[in-house]
Amino acid sequence: MNYHGHFPKTRLRRLRQSDNIRVLVRETRLDVNKLILPMFIKYGTNIKNPIASMPGHYQISVDQLAEEINEITRLGIKGIMLFGIPAQKDPLGKDSYAKNGIIQTAIPAIKKITPDLLVMTDVCFCEYTDHGHCGVVTQHEEGQAVNVDNDKTLELLAKQAVSHAQAGADIIAPSGNMDGMVYALRNALDEAGFTHLPILSYSVKYASSMYGPFRQAAEGAPKFGDRRTYQMDYANVNEAIRECALDISEGADMLMVKPAHTYLDIICRVKQTYPELPLCAYHTSGEFALVKAAAEKGWIDERKSAMEILTAIHRAGADFIITYYAKEVGQWLQNK
Ligand code: PBG
Ligand code: ZN
Repeated sequence: MNYHGHFPKTRLRRLRQSDNIRVLVRETRLDVNKLILPMFIKYGTNIKNPIASMPGHYQISVDQLAEEINEITRLGIKGIMLFGIPAQKDPLGKDSYAKNGIIQTAIPAIKKITPDLLVMTDVCFCEYTDHGHCGVVTQHEEGQAVNVDNDKTLELLAKQAVSHAQAGADIIAPSGNMDGMVYALRNALDEAGFTHLPILSYSVKYASSMYGPFRQAAEGAPKFGDRRTYQMDYANVNEAIRECALDISEGADMLMVKPAHTYLDIICRVKQTYPELPLCAYHTSGEFALVKAAAEKGWIDERKSAMEILTAIHRAGADFIITYYAKEVGQWLQNK
């Protein structure tokens, strides 16, 4: 009878008795308005290509957006993250800062359909360069590590960010992991008159195998080498704190950790170190695919697994989450 000696009367299950009590004491709740849906916009017309490794997701052309955008808002989703697949790729990724580039065309079209939807843009070069790296590749020798010219890339990133801002983006999200990226973008945006526009920095971005399906979807896989010279080593955690410290000092309004599901400890550390900054986590394409594939095989319950994983990311400290599950969660929460 003397259960646990010191606190014989403690029974935690008193708080687990019924649905009503469990709801009352629940500490975290997933809400669809905390989820951001990534979208892949492809140059052309009449395109809605299903992405094989990402069931429920498409490469979509601007003329096909209305139905999709209306569906998203109907489900209660408040924000999207845009990725562009341009008509032409070149060594500098010029489409990414062209007035009639794919993102610059998509934003006004989306704003016309629903002015209220928050439009974030991923600011990077890998989808726009013919070599598929996130910046200007200076020289590359077979078998050598890829060298991306950090400071040349900053100049072009600034052009891209200002161009997205001029097209009507609501949040600028640089993802290329260049040093000084936030500072360069903040200056360029301010000079162009966009002092009000927030920067969501992909502050803590690991060189991860969890981006596989995305690289197919966005047609942005590197043609040679990998991203280990500019993305973080997944064995490191203290370095994540340094990345955040720098981004904050450079003027980041919000931080991000990516991937999310496999990096809950990082989310937790960043949130505990910088509780005052809004923190985003990116539940990546590979992490999405793991759940989808197991669910398709009937090995796990998709709804329960996805809700558990996303709640865990939120519980770990992410204030909001970018996820390919945003539409499903919207649906599930509507018919609870
Ligand atoms: C672009 C970018 C990537 C992702 C988001 N922005 C690819 C990469 O860094 O290689 C990955 C997102 C995902 O896997 O869902 N730099
Ligand atoms: Zn990139």
